[in-house]
Amino acid sequence: MKVNGTHYRSLWWDEDKDALQIIDQRWLPHEFRVQQVNTLQEFADAIVEMRVRGAPLIGATAAYGMALAAGSDPSDENLDKAWEYLDKTRPTAINLRWALNRCRAKLKALPVGDRAAAALQLAHEISDEDVDINYRIGQNGLEIIRRIAAGKPDGEPVRILTHCNAGWIATVDWGTATSPMYQAHDENIAIHVWVDETRPRNQGALTSWELGSHGIAHTYITDNAGGHLMQHGQVDLVITGTDRTTRRGDVCNKIGTYLKALAAKANDVPFYVALPSPTIDWTVEDGVAEIPIEERLEREVTHVQGLTEDGRIGQVQVTPHGTPGGNPAFDVTPNHLVTGLITERGVCEASADGLAGLFPDLAKVARSA
Ligand code: MRU
Repeated sequence: MKVNGTHYRSLWWDEDKDALQIIDQRWLPHEFRVQQVNTLQEFADAIVEMRVRGAPLIGATAAYGMALAAGSDPSDENLDKAWEYLDKTRPTAINLRWALNRCRAKLKALPVGDRAAAALQLAHEISDEDVDINYRIGQNGLEIIRRIAAGKPDGEPVRILTHCNAGWIATVDWGTATSPMYQAHDENIAIHVWVDETRPRNQGALTSWELGSHGIAHTYITDNAGGHLMQHGQVDLVITGTDRTTRRGDVCNKIGTYLKALAAKANDVPFYVALPSPTIDWTVEDGVAEIPIEERLEREVTHVQGLTEDGRIGQVQVTPHGTPGGNPAFDVTPNHLVTGLITERGVCEASADGLAGLFPDLAKVARSA
């Protein structure tokens, strides 16, 4: 997507510098800073500190981390070491392990001398695939938006609520939840997006930055406003992303998603989840019982970051000194609250049959593993 007229992906390989470049998202939406990642430690830090974030982007970053490891020492031992080091950076988004597993399996099957070049090639492939998957999710989600738009008086926007940032900077490009929005806007379908702020880290501000840069009408709202808006008929549909979806369609996503799904169910508002296939964890059935939920720092809750009046990016403390903060970063929305999963192969019911119907190849591999 474009930033000030220039097309960017959220990460890219610089051939001249022979190194990965990322957008350091800690400073967005106020400053656009690019950073080069040079060592495995820097890769791990970039993920842990959320310089890169969003399930698909974490996966793509990890693939480049494996390429870096293979470039310096392509032995089995070193690939295992890099796998373990990167795997423990964040526990919830399954794309991380998906990418690590894919890289390690492919590289170990090759002669040691071929691994470095193949690893870099594979990281590029994983990135390109992500862009393609998200574009297709956009096409499939666009159908849903088109249908709703067709039932509205001319010019009245389709009102979409989204939570967190499942936008282009959470992926390599397009985003997942935002891809149908970008494509609807590009097709001149009127849309308006309610953007949940998404405390504690306010990823909604990233979504506002993205949508604003693309000229899409949107309003930034508090996390608690969604239920009220739904009760008053102000939301036509919800589209969120996901960090891990189980084989029966339970959706783990940013904390607060579950409450939005409950409110949507109570108010008959369709609740869709944009789901790229690498985000499906075929080994897990019951999301509430089985998905590890990342617990992040208290400071993210007791403090907020923003732009100060003198134009600096700073943090202020919200709570009294010493107030304990709890910070579960994700929650699980059970499948019965999900209207449909928008995938790169089409839209399906959030159920084992729905997912296996669209992805028989992946479901079969998982069953035989
Ligand atoms: O903690 P984050 O910012 O990495 O969480 C991101 C989300 O929860 C997104 O909704 C999810 O990764 C889908 S991104 C396309």
